[in-house]
Order: sequence, then C-alpha cells, then structure tokens
Amino acid sequence: MNTSANNGALNTQTRKADHLRVCLEEDVQSHRITNGLERYRFTHCCLPELNRSEIDISTTFLGKAIATPLLISSMTGGTEQARLINQRLAQTAQRYGLAIGVGSQRVAVENPDLTATFAVRQYAPDALIFANLGAVQLNYDYGLSQCQKAVDWLEADALILHLNPLQEAVQTEGDVNFKGLFAKIEQLVKALPVPVVAKEVGNGISAAMAQRLIESGVAAIDVAGAGGTSWARVESERAKDAKQRRLGNTFADWGIPTAECIIGIRALSSAPGSSTAVPLIASGGLRNGLDATKALALGADLAGMALPFLQAASQSEAAIAELCEALIAEIVTVLFCTGCASLSELRQDGILCPALPAS
Ligand code: FNR
Repeated sequence: MNTSANNGALNTQTRKADHLRVCLEEDVQSHRITNGLERYRFTHCCLPELNRSEIDISTTFLGKAIATPLLISSMTGGTEQARLINQRLAQTAQRYGLAIGVGSQRVAVENPDLTATFAVRQYAPDALIFANLGAVQLNYDYGLSQCQKAVDWLEADALILHLNPLQEAVQTEGDVNFKGLFAKIEQLVKALPVPVVAKEVGNGISAAMAQRLIESGVAAIDVAGAGGTSWARVESERAKDAKQRRLGNTFADWGIPTAECIIGIRALSSAPGSSTAVPLIASGGLRNGLDATKALALGADLAGMALPFLQAASQSEAAIAELCEALIAEIVTVLFCTGCASLSELRQDGILCPALPAS
C-alpha cells in the first residue's frame, strides 16, 4: 500500500474503534424521537387454542431458511475487539438461527490484512450473512471489484449498501458527494451475482426513496429508522471541535420513525400499478421481542437490532445467549397471546391496532 492509502486505512480503523467505544460508553440513543411502535398494541386473545410449544417462528428471507426472524444488524470489523465481537455474534447467529451482518468492510478494502476481523462464515456456516459497504463509496473509486471482494471474503449471501447522508454530513472527515448514486447502484445490481440490500443507519427510508431504490434494482430494503441509535449523537460525542459537536447534537433526533417507514413502504405494494412487495427488514430502535413482533405484524419480514447485540457481545457469550433466549420467548409469547401459530398469521386484520392515546 502507498502512504496515503496507509493513512486512509489507519484513519478508518481509528474511526471504527471510536465508534465501538462511544456506542458502548456513551448515551447514543435518540431521546426526543421514538421508533413509533408504541402507537400500536396487539389485540389480546384470551383463548388461543394453541399449544405454546408448537408455535413456529421460522421464516425465509432472500430464499434462505431462517429459524428466528431476527437480524444482528451490521456493526463492526477492523479491530481486534471487533474480531471477537463478530465471532461471538456469528456463533450466536448459528446457534439460534438468526441472520447476521458485519460492519462496513471499507477498512478491509483499504487494508486486506484486516479481513480476518470480519470472519463470520466459519462460525455461522448456515446463517444468512450480509456483507456491508457504504453506497457513497461508489463515488469515491469503489465499484464492482470492491463490492465483489466484500462479498467473497465473507461468502456472504447478499451485500448491504448503507445510505448514511446525515452521518457523513456531521462527521469532520465525512464523504458527502452523494450525486449520481441511483445510477451507480443500478449498474452494480446488474453486475453483482448476489442480491443488493439498501439500508439506512438509523434515519429511515421513506416510501418515495424505497420506490426509487426498488426501481434501481435493489432486492430488499432495511429501513433502519429513527428511534434507536443516533449516529448524529455518536459523531457528536467523538467530534474534535465545538462546531462539529453542535452539528451532531442539533440532528440527534432527526429521521423517520421505524414504524412510519414500514407502513409507508408496505403501502407501496397495495398502490395501483406499483411494484410488488419487496422483502423488508425493520430496524432502528427495536429493543425487545415485542417491538420486533410489532414490526413484523406491520409488514416487515425480519427485525434487526444493533446496539442491544453489541452491548451483550461486548460482555460475554452467555450474555448474548441470554438476550437471544429472551427475544425468542417474547416473540413466541406475542404469537401465543394473539392466537397465531406462525408468523404469517400476524398479518391478519385486527391483530395489531392503534393504541389509545395516553390520557
Ligand atoms: C452501526 N450501524 C452500521 N450500519 C451499517 O450499515 N454499517 C456499519 O458499518 C454500521 N456500523 C455500526 C456500528 C455500531 C457500533 C452500531 C451500534 C451501529 C448501524 C446499525 O446497523 C443500525 O442501523 C442502527 O444502529 C440502528 O439500530 P439500533 O442500534 O437502534 O438497533
């Protein structure tokens, strides 16, 4: 590598280490905006006519069987701490049948010695695995070859392209040229042999943007809506000067709540002449199995979580196992107490209704 590439790799690595530290040590969640799911409640069924132990929470996504409808959202890689976290998360994905994403692999494209810190396939041979790169990198010399490498290193089933204009805008060193990306995504989707998923990072994807992304050929959408981890807050915490800190703080609660994204995107498929239902991941501020199941009932196919898995993975393998078992018990309990034998039954009319406004 030449010296400037070397510096770039080092900067990216330092930024990744900062992100983990800030997310684990500081309060990085939105306070004045919620995921919107509190506006809904399930209709309780007092006599489910089901045996709880026979409830089926398995599903399929992008053609792959998934035992538990949860995704460990894209987070990390590039450092020794990240390697251990990815290993623990991957072992969990395999054990409980979850899908899993890794953090942006840009650091490994810049320094291929770091690919091992993203190694998840060896620990999760059967899991649905997502590679990850920022879509904006397509404007900074990335193309098919870098995307293909990111997929190959992981033996990934699909590539997530994350869309993060706010995060880049509030970062001192952000990449802020987002011009012409729809056309580049369209080209990439045609050439890459695996499906491409468009994902936000906690500010949400509107129905109109989802429509354009689907028209560009993406195979699935992860809304990553507002109400959970706030990247403006994260970047504000690691800002070097007052101006950057203020910028991040001002936008700490910016974005479209997760529930609103799901409803808007699902309404697209019922509009006359519109595209068919795209596979949909809901994430952004989901914190328990009840949130996850509400997101599924609103129309998502998988529910993703980032921060809760990071917090557990940084503690121990036992902590992640405990989290997974709690999440699964919560999802099963929702199905049982709504009289649903499987996830598809959650989509019946009247299962989820608007909650009464608090008096
Ligand atoms: C993230 N997220 C993220 N997303 C992405 O597409 N590529 C990435 O590299 C990262 N990196 C990253 C690091 C850490 C430490 C966290 C906590 C998160 C965003 C993540 O996938 C998710 O969209 C948001 O965090 C919102 O979900 P939660 O945290 O509210 O459940």
